[in-house]
This record gives sequence, structure tokens and C-alpha cells, in this order.
Amino acid sequence: MSENHFRSFDFLVLGSGIAGLVFALKASEHGQVAIVTKKQSAESNTNYAQGGIASVTSKEDSFDMHVRDTLEAGAGLCREDVVRAIVQDGPARIAELIELGMRFSEREIPASHGAKELDLGREGGHSKRRILHAKDITGREIERALLNAAAQRPNIRIFENHCAIDLITTGKLGFEGGNRCLGAYVLDVNGNQVLTFTAPVVTLATGGCGKVYLYTTNPDIAAGDGVAMAYRAGAAVANMEFVQFHPTCLYHPRAKSFLISEAVRGEGAVLKNLQGDEFMDSFHPLKSLAPRDIVARAIDSEMKRTGADHVFLDITHKPARFLMSRFPNIYSTCMSFGIDMTKEMIPVVPAAHYQCGGVLTNVDGETEIPGLYAVGEVACTGLHGANRLASNSLLEALVCAHRAAAKAAAEVRTPVNLYIPGWQSGNAHNPDELVVVSHNWDEIRRIMWDYVGIVRTDKRLQRARARIANLQEEIREYYWDFTVTRDLLELRNIATVAELIVACAQARPESRGLHYNLDHLQTDPVWAKRDTIQRKTAV
Ligand code: FAD
Ligand code: SIN
Repeated sequence: MSENHFRSFDFLVLGSGIAGLVFALKASEHGQVAIVTKKQSAESNTNYAQGGIASVTSKEDSFDMHVRDTLEAGAGLCREDVVRAIVQDGPARIAELIELGMRFSEREIPASHGAKELDLGREGGHSKRRILHAKDITGREIERALLNAAAQRPNIRIFENHCAIDLITTGKLGFEGGNRCLGAYVLDVNGNQVLTFTAPVVTLATGGCGKVYLYTTNPDIAAGDGVAMAYRAGAAVANMEFVQFHPTCLYHPRAKSFLISEAVRGEGAVLKNLQGDEFMDSFHPLKSLAPRDIVARAIDSEMKRTGADHVFLDITHKPARFLMSRFPNIYSTCMSFGIDMTKEMIPVVPAAHYQCGGVLTNVDGETEIPGLYAVGEVACTGLHGANRLASNSLLEALVCAHRAAAKAAAEVRTPVNLYIPGWQSGNAHNPDELVVVSHNWDEIRRIMWDYVGIVRTDKRLQRARARIANLQEEIREYYWDFTVTRDLLELRNIATVAELIVACAQARPESRGLHYNLDHLQTDPVWAKRDTIQRKTAV
């Protein structure tokens, strides 16, 4: 491979969602930063976030209350010190985000002659209104503000349509001494070549893995690449059994992955079955605003009981003018499918939404591998435990990316000064059977949906494990025979992540938070505070 396939930076950031961009903006004060991102810069889970960011900003709220709500949702598995640190750092990071250009929705303070304050939304599991939002397009506004700020930093270079293949570590290259991250091999999709990026600090900000499931709220980029790469590099991956299913994804044959925000329930929407009857009363005192795991399971149970393929969300009792102004994106998207939410109920189903587990890190984003950080949805810090509280993920990404950049900048960084071989494609030829890739991809996603979904059993998990193992064997066989494409890379990664989710689910013989197993219905105190950790033994 020729010299011009090598790129050297002080910081290599994989991903351009909120976590990657916040990290890059901070790191750019200390050195040259490369952001490598799979598609266009804004294409990320962040871009689709609707509800907002949870943070304590009102006088009626307190850090203690936010901590308590987070711990309660997390069902005994959160790390309280991490929860407290993230909650307490929130307001300062929000202030910085506003300074960078983020525009949150405001409301007039009653009897103040026009003075304004930040408008606060409410979502399931929150005892107070504390969700800062930009109407119902919070994520789009975050990406706009952060990408705009990044464009003004000469130290930041963004590589769009570049897909990271694998991390480069001393362990993998067979160097003596401990494992250390040195960079990453990256597929330049348009240039059809593999580049070698080196940096003393590599930060995974690759987001979640919704695409492992057949139905998801996530965009196509969410293939679990970061978790799979970190696992292959020898890092610990934890708590992958805790996949959060969002209760209300729009049910319509032409609507792909469109979320109906929990904020709609926060403003009074109620769940109803096909007969128009409310059914949440028998599941939780908070009814439609109960924590997400309970609502998703209740919908699943109601659908199974009645044989229906969806339920309804009803907010027709609210004034049309309020709905159109508070939820303009949801209103217009529903209208585009012929559903007028001001007059009729919205058909909804649960869908895979958020990965609570991930690459094991501390609150500063440090993984077990020196030189490798992980921030945002790809990381497992201990904030979410067994179930994430709504709108805590943008907060975690914002706070932890800041902390990780500060930590990485404070460390003495030895430049990478080792011989790193370029990417070896061996005798690879162009794939002629792309149908195999798409078939295997569909099969994994269906297996995960059918056997490792909202309700699990030992038998279903065993079945999923066996089928995924077979598919992995097949993938291994042709992975090295063909030149890499983004589809092939993602297929290998979703198979690895599926394997990890099943392995973690099988390693937890109880039901807790999002992990619900009919063969182990009780929550076992022995398993409180115990993470399910997967680590590849031979690197
Ligand atoms: P992402 O924003 O997903 O960014 C990941 C980045 O990594 C992308 O740029 C992607 O292209 C890139 N990438 C991935 N793999 C590779 C690779 N191999 N090589 C190069 N680049 C790669 N959370 C809240 O707190 N509040 C909400 O209101 C909210 N609403 C949501 C609504 C929807 C529809 C969805 C899907 C999620 C929502 N969430 C919400 C969750 C939240 O949006 C995400 O957890 C958060 O945005 C994750 O940010 P991130 O930076 O970690 O990852
Ligand atoms: C939503 O708007 O319902 C999503 C909030 C979240 O996932 O935190």
C-alpha cells in the first residue's frame, strides 16, 4: 500500500453524532482532529432525536430527584456515582451547547410581561418536567449547531462516507507488552480504497445497534460497528441484553422507523387498544407514562392478547393549534401518511430503540485499552443500568464526551511511532453474490426480533444462539474472500452484536429492567449491581 493511504492525527474520532462532535470540538483545542463518519455528517441517531435532553434547570427540580428517577428506571443496575456525576455536570454542558448555537424552545414566563425561559417537556419515568427540547426536532437542531461549530475549527477535518473497518492495536499486530490502540483501518466508500488512520487517541462515537432488529426507530447507520470493533480488539463489552424498545413507533406500511415521541404522552396522549379502550391502568399507576420497559411490554401483551398488529395513541383531546406548534414534525409526517393526529388516533407499535449496554468505560469514556475511548450510545458507563430513563442518552453523550476529551488532552500522548502495516486485502475479489449479504442480514434481524425481543425464554435464546453461530460461520468464510464493502462490514458487525446480546441475555438468569425472561420471572438480588461482561479471550 502506498504512503498516501496513511493519515496521521492527534485525535481520531469515529462518528459524527452528538458524542463525536462534542469530543472533537473540545479535542480540537489541543491538536489535529479527524472525524471519520459512515455517511453524510449529520446522518446519525442524534439527528432523529425528538423528545430532548434531560437536565435539571428548574427551581422545582433537583439533582437528587433526577438521580432518583434514573436509578429507579435502571432497576438496581446503575452506578450511582456515575449517575450523580452526569446529572450534576448537565447544566454546565447545556449552557455550553447554547453558547455553541443550540436553540432550545422557550416559553413565556406567566405574568412576566414577555420574559422567556426554557420550555420543559415531560417523559415517562420523570417525576418533574425537565426535558429541554427544540420542538420535536431536538436532534436535528443539535447536529446543525455542532456541525456549524466544527466547520469553524481549522483543526477539525471531517471524512464523510468513510466507514471504520477495525481498530489497529498493538495486540492485534503482535507487539510485545500490553494492548494499546494505535488507529483504525477505514474504508473510503467513494474512493473504493482502505486507508490507515493513526492517532495516539482513538474515540469510538459510533452510536447504537438498532439495525440488529427487524423493526427499529434507528436510521441505517446504527449497525453496532463500534461495539463489534472494540470487542474484536479485546475491550470488555457489558450489559448488551438491555435493549430498549420504544413503545411508540408509527405503524404504517410506508413509514420506515418513524418515532412518535414519548413527549406526546408527556403532553397527555393515552394508549388505547383497537376497541378504543385504555389498557395501561392494569400495568402501572403511571399508566401511559410508566417507564418504557413496562409500557413496551404492556403493548406487546395487549397485542398478543387481542391478536392486533398495533395499538393506538390518542391525543385528539388537545387543541389542534397546540399540537401543530409543539409537534410540527410528528404532525406533518403523520399527515403525509394520511393520519391527522389532531382528529384521529395514531397507530403505533414498539420497536428496538436504544442500546443500554456497550463498550465498558468509566465516566470519562476510558475503555480497558489505553488510547481507546468510547462515548455516547456505544459506551456502557453505568448511567442507564437495566433500563434508560427517557432523554438521558443525549445528556450522557454530551457530558461524557466533554469529560473524555478533557481526560485525553491531559494525558501525555506519545505519537504512534511503530510500524503499522497497511490493510491487506489478500486475494479478495469483488463479491458476485450480494444476495447472500442481504439474505443473511435479513435473517439475523428476524431471528433477533422473534427470539431476543421484548419477551424472551431460555429456549428462544438457545435457538437464536445456534442460528447466529451458523450464520457467523458462513460470514467468516466469505468475509476474507471478497473486497470489503459497507454492507459486508455491517453484516459482520450485526452478527457479532447479535451474538453478544444473546450471550449477555443467557448469562443473566433473572428478569430485570429491559431483560424479561419468562423462564426466570423474578428479579434476583444476587444479580443486582452485577454487569454481564463479554471479553474476547484471544486477541
Ligand atoms: P449517533 O448519533 O448515532 O452517531 C453515530 C455516528 O457514528 C454516526 O455519525 C454514524 O455515521 C457513525 N458511525 C457508525 N459506525 C461507523 C463506522 N463504522 N465508521 C464511521 N462512522 C460510523 N435520546 C435522548 O436523550 N433524547 C431523545 O429525544 C431521543 N430521541 C431519539 C429518537 C430517535 C428516533 C432515536 C433513534 C434515538 C433517540 N434518542 C434520544 C437516542 C439518542 O438519539 C442517541 O442515543 C444519541 O443520539 C447517540 O448519539 P451518539 O453520538 O452516541 O451516536
Ligand atoms: C422520544 O422522544 O420519545 C425519545 C426519547 C428518548 O429516546 O430518550
